[in-house]
Amino acid sequence: MSERKFFVGGNFKMNGNKSSLADIVANLNKIDCPNTDVVVAPPSIYLQYLSASITNQVKVASQNCYKVAKGAYTGEISPDMLKDMGIEWVILGHSERRHVFNESNELIGQKVKHAVESGIKIIPCVGEKLDEREAGVTENIVFEQMEMIKNNVSDWSGVVIAYEPVWAIGTGKTATPDQAQEVHDKIRKWLAKNVSDEVAATTRIIYGGSVNASNCKELAKCKDIDGFLVGGASLKPEFNDIVKANA
Ligand code: G3P
Repeated sequence: MSERKFFVGGNFKMNGNKSSLADIVANLNKIDCPNTDVVVAPPSIYLQYLSASITNQVKVASQNCYKVAKGAYTGEISPDMLKDMGIEWVILGHSERRHVFNESNELIGQKVKHAVESGIKIIPCVGEKLDEREAGVTENIVFEQMEMIKNNVSDWSGVVIAYEPVWAIGTGKTATPDQAQEVHDKIRKWLAKNVSDEVAATTRIIYGGSVNASNCKELAKCKDIDGFLVGGASLKPEFNDIVKANA
């Protein structure tokens, strides 16, 4: 039995409006799953609305934040601002930040460092692109991303690693349980070798990439899959089923 509490994140990405989010919140408020940590990430403009509307144990995360506390960085928000508004979690290094907005591994490392030192819990994302998997360099890519995260984490207690193969994000093409378990196992072994046995044993490694109510239970059976980071399905009522995937 894993000593790691199941964790399900919902990444709304740039989706939702006050009307649709009211329906989503009504659904989230029906979740009663004490054995799972549930964290949802709306667009930042709606963070306060969700924080004020959620009535159960579901937590709220930002989808991103910057690497410093304040300054002339138009459009950015800082970990201190998240804390000021009671937001405890942030997703960092999502593949869309890396490959659409060209955030470098170095910048993501700096964001990790500042968020952790500011007392915000983080969900740093790693994962390979299809051409990298086809070229057989998945491990190299994931370990390079893990190295940058490791070099900037001073406290692992608030870190949940998300493995999100880029080729499975938003494509409907989910990694098979074997494919996902293989990489999760490698990441856990990498943590044991490069950080500590304790961090490897206690850090949740969650899978993201076209997770839905029909594939989540099979994935959840894998010993190194400790939960999910859900995109599209987090906007739908089936998210409440995914939260219970390990039950
Ligand atoms: O962060 C989770 C997201 O990238 C996965 O998206 O729509 O494939 O579940 P989706």
